[in-house]
Amino acid sequence: MDFIFFLGRLHVLVLHLPIGIIVALFALEWLSRKEKYRYLQAAAPFLWGAMGLTAIATVVLGYLHFSEGSFSGLSGDQHRFFGTVTAVVAAGVALLRVGKFADSYKPLFFPASVVLLVLISITGHYGGNLTHGSTYLVEYAPQPLRSLVGLEAKHKLTSVKEADPFVDVVGPILRAHCQGCHNEDKKENSLVLTTYAGVMRGGESGKVVVAGNTELSELLRRISLDPSDDEFMPAEGKPPLSAQQRDIIRWWIAAGAKNGGTVGDLEVPPELQKALSAELGVSF
Ligand code: HEC
Repeated sequence: MDFIFFLGRLHVLVLHLPIGIIVALFALEWLSRKEKYRYLQAAAPFLWGAMGLTAIATVVLGYLHFSEGSFSGLSGDQHRFFGTVTAVVAAGVALLRVGKFADSYKPLFFPASVVLLVLISITGHYGGNLTHGSTYLVEYAPQPLRSLVGLEAKHKLTSVKEADPFVDVVGPILRAHCQGCHNEDKKENSLVLTTYAGVMRGGESGKVVVAGNTELSELLRRISLDPSDDEFMPAEGKPPLSAQQRDIIRWWIAAGAKNGGTVGDLEVPPELQKALSAELGVSF
């Protein structure tokens, strides 16, 4: 099984080939309609052949990658559907383009490249949601864009005391470090860490945050292990939390894992005041 998973992960590498090739084909089919660039046509069968083959290879590897089993949710289904359609269309057009009668289908190839460009963009969009979470792209975007994917307005803070303990403090830390594997579409161990509800719901092994109890909070245990430990989070050598961020999460759990209200309502020991101030970039 390991070898299948190994091959499957090559999906994220190989997928860039059909993307690059279709962009080149779109430009080629468009330009070569003009007399001046007609000579580009000579490269078209080769590129279409490469497009068809790499698109199929990407989808085959995609199915192997899917067999790892941690992908579920709407984006996963849509990514799979559009990816498969893309490969089927690409392979079909490639066959016409490299075939003997390519000349008789000539008017077809430019529109086909447009259709494929659109299909591959949709596929890539859902794939991006899977690997980074749907909020990744717009985390730092202007608020109207953030609202579109349901991200709450960040408060314009003038002091740490005004900050909401989850929305402004803990939520962004977890999103930055954990959402690649614990989002609505890719939920390792059924755990979603992009929302307060998800954090408090927990994962397969039960609650990961027990308000007021740092000992029983699996999330805190996972981020506090030695980074070489198999259970350390974030997994797979992803950038770990800083000691300061760990202290903040420990304090947040001890103080009742609050969402709503302000840091000013809570008891904050002096070392933590400093940590919070550094993390949020405003004075306490
Ligand atoms: C690269 C992927 C990846 C990243 C990033 C990641 N995790 Fe995980 N996480 C996993 C995998 C895989 C599992 C299941 C295997 C295991 O339990 O170790 C898991 C399991 C967990 C569990 C156990 C859930 C349960 O109920 O069994 C917790 C808690 C957890 N992760 C917390 C975090 C936190 C906190 C972060 C961010 C600091 C994070 N993870 C980032 C991949 C990741």
